[in-house]
Parts: sequence; structure tokens; C-alpha cells
Amino acid sequence: MTGIAVLAGSTREGSFNRALAAAAARALEAQGAHVTVIDLADYDLPLYSAALEANAFPPDARRLKQVLAAQAGLLVVTPEYNGSIPPLLKNAIDWASRPTDGEAMLALSAYRGKAAAVMSASLSPFGGLRAVTHLRQILSTVQMLVIPEQVQLPAAHTAFAEDGTLKDAMAASLVDLTAASLVRVAAALAQGGR
Ligand SMILES: Cc1cc2nc3c(=O)[nH]c(=O)nc-3n(C[C@H](O)[C@H](O)[C@H](O)COP(=O)(O)O)c2cc1C
Repeated sequence: MTGIAVLAGSTREGSFNRALAAAAARALEAQGAHVTVIDLADYDLPLYSAALEANAFPPDARRLKQVLAAQAGLLVVTPEYNGSIPPLLKNAIDWASRPTDGEAMLALSAYRGKAAAVMSASLSPFGGLRAVTHLRQILSTVQMLVIPEQVQLPAAHTAFAEDGTLKDAMAASLVDLTAASLVRVAAALAQGGR
């Protein structure tokens, strides 16, 4: 079974990106993936600093790395903050990019050679397009293969039905399509070996 981690870049109660992440997790499961939802509220991640890294590598940063490293793929669902991704998410990605346990500086063991997909939900008509564009670049920088399919969900405050499903059929099918592609590419990369 293909392991996919789903990471939302918001811990806000009532977060639209958490809602989109939950909908996407269901779509990934429907494609046969084994989904691990990562809730950043469960991780105590101080703001990255080289001194902390050298003297007291945060245990939860190591735990996050381990969870990511055990997957074949990663779906990140990000809010847009001033045209980019929130510091909560960037900090988490940064910590998990750091070497541990004698790894080489650029081992990138949480990310390298795995498949990734990006999504965003925003109140705006543009659906967080600038954030997903930055996120795509960041995930490529940590050596992930980011699939071309992506989701920007506009007017997120009106997008979800009571049961958490997406009201708009086009948006729902884009989530399904992206989930299917992520599972397919992640499985192929995992099979090919890294
Ligand atoms: C500091 C800050 C900056 C924001 N900048 C943007 C922005 O550039 N574009 C946008 O569409 N929404 C922006 N928003 C609104 C967020 O998209 C909105 O708060 C959204 O609900 C956050 O995601 P969440 O519901 O998953 O927590 C911003 C919100 C905050 C707090």
C-alpha cells in the first residue's frame, strides 16, 4: 500500500485548509493509499535556529522527519499569507529538511525522490495561487517531484457542505484527479527505488 502523508499548513479551528486536507485524505484513501494525517498542533516545533539545531535538536522535529521519511508521498495543503505560505508550515518543512543521526548535509531523507502534491484554500477568488506556487518551488528545492496537478480552492468559506464534502463538482473532481495522480506517481517512484 502506498503511504501518503497529508500536511495542512494551518492549526486554526475551523480552518478551510484543514477541511480541504480532510477531503483530499478521503480521496487518497479511495485511491488505495494509506494516509497519515499530520496535524502540526501535535508537534512542538520552535522557530528554526542553528543554535537549537546544534545543541538541542527538537524531538518533535525528528519525529516529523521520521513520519515523512516513512511515506512514499506528501500532500501539502497551505493557506496563503501575504502571497506565500505561513511561517508555521515553512518552519516545519525547514526542520524536517535538516540532517540528523550523522546524515550528509543534503541527505533530505524526509523528502528526496518522493512525490508531492500541493493544494490551497483561500477566501479570495484566486484560491491561494501565490502560496501554492511558492510551495511548489520549496518542495522542489527539497528534492521532491511535485506533480503538475494542483488545487486552488477559491471562496473557501462557501465551498464546503455540512458533511465536509466540496459543493462544487469541478473542485471535487480536481481533488480526486490530483489524489489519483499523486498515488500513481508516488507508487512508481517508490517501486523504482531511490
Ligand atoms: C497574516 C495573514 C495574511 C494573509 N494573506 C492572505 C493572502 O495573501 N491571500 C489570501 O488569499 N488570503 C490571505 N489571508 C487570509 C487567509 O487565506 C485566511 O485567513 C484563511 O482562512 C487561512 O487559512 P485557514 O482557514 O486554513 O486557517 C491572510 C491571513 C493572514 C492571517
